[in-house]
Amino acid sequence: MRIKEESIKRLLDSISIVDVISDYVQLRKRGKNFVGLCPFHTEKTPSFSVSEEKGMFYCFGCSEGGNTVSFLMKYEKYTFVDAIENLAKKFNFQLEYDDSSYYEKDTELEKLYDYSRITARYFYDNLTKTNEGENALKYLSERGLNDEIIKTFGIGYALSSWEGLINFAEKNDLEKAIFEKLGLILKKEDGSYYDRFRGRIIYPIFSPAGRVIAFGGRILIEEENQPKYLNSPETKIYTKGKTLYGLFQSKDEIRKKDAVLLVEGYMDLISLYQNGFKNAVASAGTALTTEQVQILSRYTKNVTVIYDSDEAGQKAAARASEIMLETDIDFKIVSLPEGEDPDSFIKNHGGERMKIEIQSANDYVSFVESILMKDKLTIDNTEKLKIINKILELTSKIKDPIRRSLYVKSISEKFKIRESALMESMSKYIQQSRLEKKEEEKPLTITSEEETKPTIKEIPILEKGLLELMFEGNKELIEFILLHIPPEDFTSEHSRTIAQLIQNELEQGNLPEGNIIINKLEDDELKKLVAEIIFEKHKVSESWINNFVPDSSDEVKWKIAEDHIKKFKVEYLENQIAKNQSQLKSAIDLEEIKKLMELDKLLKQEILKIKSMKFRE
Ligand code: UTP
Ligand code: MN
Repeated sequence: MRIKEESIKRLLDSISIVDVISDYVQLRKRGKNFVGLCPFHTEKTPSFSVSEEKGMFYCFGCSEGGNTVSFLMKYEKYTFVDAIENLAKKFNFQLEYDDSSYYEKDTELEKLYDYSRITARYFYDNLTKTNEGENALKYLSERGLNDEIIKTFGIGYALSSWEGLINFAEKNDLEKAIFEKLGLILKKEDGSYYDRFRGRIIYPIFSPAGRVIAFGGRILIEEENQPKYLNSPETKIYTKGKTLYGLFQSKDEIRKKDAVLLVEGYMDLISLYQNGFKNAVASAGTALTTEQVQILSRYTKNVTVIYDSDEAGQKAAARASEIMLETDIDFKIVSLPEGEDPDSFIKNHGGERMKIEIQSANDYVSFVESILMKDKLTIDNTEKLKIINKILELTSKIKDPIRRSLYVKSISEKFKIRESALMESMSKYIQQSRLEKKEEEKPLTITSEEETKPTIKEIPILEKGLLELMFEGNKELIEFILLHIPPEDFTSEHSRTIAQLIQNELEQGNLPEGNIIINKLEDDELKKLVAEIIFEKHKVSESWINNFVPDSSDEVKWKIAEDHIKKFKVEYLENQIAKNQSQLKSAIDLEEIKKLMELDKLLKQEILKIKSMKFRE
């Protein structure tokens, strides 16, 4: 039923958190840790920190934190089990289960991925190893694709038969039900199946981590009543609006260049890639969505939109602009000459010209102006007003007021209209979009998500310090601390929970480690807290702890522990004294007053005793 805990521990011990997170965040080594731009909030300077040694990450900017598993849960929206199984798969690790009859749900997901991969291979073999595939291969080479690029993108071919994939399934003993769930075969009324993709060039669609999740198919021989492109339907492993075609192949280059080229079609992307523009993605098969922009913004904030020059393409670019204006993405738009798309442009004019087009891309203001002006040489005031209003409407979508006013300034200069007049005119659009926002149920944009993110609840700094010491990896030290301050004495619920887990680990004969304890926590806030404790140094004592160096020797750690314990006990006693004294103020019974005064004296003595006490020999 369950994955054995031991097995999880061994898996996490055997992999490097840096390897895992590097698939998503560009990390650079700094000191003992690795740093990069946080994928969970928007930032320009890196505050996202990863410790290989501790197997944990923490963002000093937004206090997101945790271990490898919680990173994947957060980023990929995996369940705990999904995250573990994905890791195991990726690193070829054999997980052990408590019971062999392990639940259906997760095996199904794994099967969907497996079958997708197998199908991609089947299509590829059709292309490269069958007679019918030769035609398709010829078509691809006529379109300028070489063998290497075909391999890189796993391009394949679906036979023109109604039963190509079905025969393949039968021959290989594969479950048709899974193919059906992937939308690769469809059921007829009599219960038999037929292939979805027939006579099409197949472009597998990959997840950012490189798993095949869906397919796009372009018809080889154009026929009436047949759409040029056919895509997989949405499935458990594929959400159209959250997928970017080519991201897997391009992500490294996108990070390296800190820039991405956004195109519409499969062929556009592949063509660019083959011509050395390896930092592109395609929204393929859907108008750009906010989710796609959010995914992209984890890799870079600099987008250049290169859509088709036809009307549909320009409309799509305008829509994409609206979406991006609402985020913190910086984008420019390339307007290709009449009749061209990125693929044809690069073929007709070459990579150098493409480079120039990219370098001279326009911002949305000029873009809107140019599409509304079309080929007109002069325009009257009514038309001019229309253009300005459209630009203002778009500008109103910019959240950041400074950025917005910078644009207003440049619009003012460009059209020679006073800024105040523009502002006034724009305010109605801002109001309007606020009203629309209110109607929407949940916030979609990156910024609003950030604003609602709850912060870690405060716990006494002294207790954070104690927990921090216990995560230093010294068993005797932990025992020493817990002997003097048992978990139940921790004053906040959060620190109590963590202290208790530390004690449990110790009792089971394990050395308590942050990345293991995180697996036992359900609450996201608590996971973050553990990361915060481990990454942030909570200076407590004013005196010599101020010279506290991160790599302090054992002796120093013991001294700090002793100091913490003393302070904790003293604080505890001081609280008692305060309570006692307030009781004393309202006491009237003489006997009671005497007793309270006695207690006060005792508590004060106790404090003195503790202050001078030596806890260790
Ligand atoms: P285009 O019609 O511009 O095709 O559609 P293309 O990319 O230039 O393809 P080639 O060069 O003729 O091979 C752009 C994108 O829109 C989606 C596809 O993702 C396509 O790449 N699309 C288009 C569909 O999903 N379905 C369609 O019927 C057409
Ligand atoms: Mn094309």
